[in-house]
Amino acid sequence: MPPDTHRRITLTVNGERVTADVPVRQHLADYLRQSLGLTGTHLGCEHGSCGACTVLVDGQLARGCLMLAVQADGAVVESIEGAAASGRIARLSSAFHRRNALQCGFCTPAMLLTAAELLRVNPNPTRDEVRDWISGNFCRCTGYQAIVDAVMEAAS
Ligand code: FES
Ligand code: FES
Repeated sequence: MPPDTHRRITLTVNGERVTADVPVRQHLADYLRQSLGLTGTHLGCEHGSCGACTVLVDGQLARGCLMLAVQADGAVVESIEGAAASGRIARLSSAFHRRNALQCGFCTPAMLLTAAELLRVNPNPTRDEVRDWISGNFCRCTGYQAIVDAVMEAAS
C-alpha cells in the first residue's frame, strides 16, 4: 500500500499502461516529466495561463499544471512524445519548420498539440479561427503570425 501522502493510479500514457504511487499534490505535468521522463510537456506559469503544459486527457486538451496526477487515474493521456511517435503531427511539424513558426521552441510542443486538435475538429479553419483556438497558448518569440501561417499551411 502507498503511504498516506501517495495514491496508486493506473493510466494509459502514449499507448502504454502505467501504474504508480504518486504524491497526492503532484500535478500531471510534473508526473509526466519527473516520473516518466516526458519532458516535452513544458512548465511555464504553473497557474493555467500560458498553455505550455498542454496534453490530451481522454481526447480533450488539458492543462497539465491544473490537473493532479491522481485525477488522471483511469484516463488516457497523450503528450507531445506520443503524438510525434504516432505521426499525427508530422504535417504540422514540417509546416512549423518551413514557416519558422518556432524560435526558442518553449511553446512549440503544446502549440502543436493544440493546433492538431483544431485541425481534427475543423480541418479548414480561417486565420481568425486559428488565432482564436491558440489564444490560450502563449508564445514569447514569434508574434504568432508564423504560427498561424504554419497551421494554415498544414490545413491546406
Ligand atoms: S504551465 Fe500550465 S498553463 Fe502555464
Ligand atoms: S517559440 Fe519561444 S515561446 Fe514560442
